[in-house]
Amino acid sequence: NPLQGAQFVLAAHRINQLPKDEGAEVAFAGRSNAGKSSALNALTGQKGLARTSKTPGRTQQMVAFSLPPIVLGEALPLLEARLIDLPGYGYAKVPDALREHWRHEIDRYLHQRHSLRGVVLIVDIRHPLKEFDRMMLNFCLDTELACHVLLTKADKLSRSQASQALASLRKELDTGAPVTVQIFSSSAGTGVEEARSAVRQLLVG
Ligand code: GTP
Ligand code: MG
Repeated sequence: NPLQGAQFVLAAHRINQLPKDEGAEVAFAGRSNAGKSSALNALTGQKGLARTSKTPGRTQQMVAFSLPPIVLGEALPLLEARLIDLPGYGYAKVPDALREHWRHEIDRYLHQRHSLRGVVLIVDIRHPLKEFDRMMLNFCLDTELACHVLLTKADKLSRSQASQALASLRKELDTGAPVTVQIFSSSAGTGVEEARSAVRQLLVG
């Protein structure tokens, strides 16, 4: 597993509290309750690493996890690597002020973070591309930031329904954007290996 050995570093309310902006970082973004934290746990192979919950709005901070430094080549320095669990977007019960705070911080994070190499966009396969997802994809298009979409909770659909969802999203995204898509399930373990390589690829980009 290329994402083995992840460790909790810190939880930040603002981007200036995040670890030093160097090395390479991949952020996990998506709507509230989509399954971001669960995906992070499945990918790192550590069940309790990121906190998950049935109640939307669980992740209320930007949570940073470090990975063991990546060896890029014999004569090259080691690459520091991190994964960032972002707060969910679009949860109605979060007070307006807090929602606005997170909208602003996520926006700043995406625009200002130099070490950000790519986004893993977590989308519930049953509800593909809500407004936040489209915003994120457009942002990636505009800024040429790489994005890998996990159509998660695939265990909730039949195999053929899941493939259909994948095909129709791929068709919709066929715009030459640096976006890749796959089927995923944290609970069933579907697509975990594929997603691990995709994240690793984003990091070494
Ligand atoms: P916030 O931090 O609140 O934004 O949510 P999140 O996107 O981090 O979601 P989280 O990982 O906490 O999961 C939300 C709920 O979805 C939990 O009840 C999980 O058990 C469930 N869940 C996550 N992934 C899967 C999956 O692949 N399949 C199924 N069936 N349930 C899942
Ligand atoms: Mg979460």
